[in-house]
Amino acid sequence: MKLFDVYSLYDIEPVYGKGNYVYTEDGTEYLDLYGGHAVISVGHAHPHYVKAVSEQVAKLGFYSNSVENSLQEKFAEMLGKASGYEDYSLFLCNSGAEANENAIKLASFHSGKAKVLAFEKAFHGRTSGAVAATDNPKIVAPFNRTENVEFAPLNDIEAVKAKLATGEFCAVLIEGIQGVAGIYCPDDTFLQQLSEVTKEYGVSLILDEIQSGYGRTGDFFAHQHAGIRPDIITSAKGIANGFPMGAVLVAPHFEAKKGMLGTTFGGNHLACAAGIAVLEIFEHENLVENAREIGAYLIEELQKIPQLKEVRGRGLMIGMEIEGSASELRLKLLKEYHIFTGGAGATTVRLLPALTVTRKEADKFLAAFKELLNK
Ligand SMILES: Cc1ncc(COP(=O)(O)O)c(C=O)c1O
Repeated sequence: MKLFDVYSLYDIEPVYGKGNYVYTEDGTEYLDLYGGHAVISVGHAHPHYVKAVSEQVAKLGFYSNSVENSLQEKFAEMLGKASGYEDYSLFLCNSGAEANENAIKLASFHSGKAKVLAFEKAFHGRTSGAVAATDNPKIVAPFNRTENVEFAPLNDIEAVKAKLATGEFCAVLIEGIQGVAGIYCPDDTFLQQLSEVTKEYGVSLILDEIQSGYGRTGDFFAHQHAGIRPDIITSAKGIANGFPMGAVLVAPHFEAKKGMLGTTFGGNHLACAAGIAVLEIFEHENLVENAREIGAYLIEELQKIPQLKEVRGRGLMIGMEIEGSASELRLKLLKEYHIFTGGAGATTVRLLPALTVTRKEADKFLAAFKELLNK
């Protein structure tokens, strides 16, 4: 059987990793500033993570959601504390898209309404509702097209008000920072207005923190910079350092009913053990603080590079607007300097390293990047 050919691949196969580096079979080392697409949060093969996951799989890897699972309770308690959302409740699933599907469903059940307002250039995943709320017609199949999703320009509160005034919307769905679009931050004032306006119209505010959350920006969630408290928050990617896991954080005013949401794999023992290990490492190693410090340093240094047209982002979620092709530049960084980075659109290079990235590694990247831009 062949693989269904949907990905453009680099001709490099990392077979093991350590910290912020990955290695090919012959031992060639690559600095990983992409984190496997913002997924590696505590570095590759972190000893505490490896131990926790190995011990759990040897004990009990999986049982269904029909029995008690104290690992879920422990994870929920730790996540509540780490994020500052102790009064919210937690629904566990398996991916970012699934988290958004459940968030939308919840808002729709809650209000009895069907429409979702998303934003231009948004990316929320590839499943039915999530892809409908994604502003990229190329990945929306005819089956997924729906009048239940409308888009407004980012940072335009009047456009949002005009839509919500129709009374048809159950939710406004917004990324903490638009990632796939190329790292675009909603203004803090816009998020504050959004919080007020959604309350005024009785619409749920859903913050998609799948890429921008989990400590990456130097606060636990990116929206916390704006001091707002959304009704629903979705999370995935870095939550279990590569073990598939998604989460929906739900404000206290939502009423849970048996059977309203569900999943076979969500919140399984292995996922919870991985998620708990990640939060323990966050705490022991002050990783959210590290993300803030190294992120600020990288952004400051990148802003000094005259060849860059713009540097956007917060913490360790950084977009650099370059002259010319981002994919060509990234390929050179990979082949000539052995550094993995991410892309977004034709001219943006994205950095999404693990929260463990060090000043030394940041400097290694900056030196290589400057040298390459000066060639
Ligand atoms: C903001 C955002 N939402 C949702 C998703 C979808 O997550 P997943 O690929 O885990 O379904 C992504 C993935 O890149 C994302 O960046």
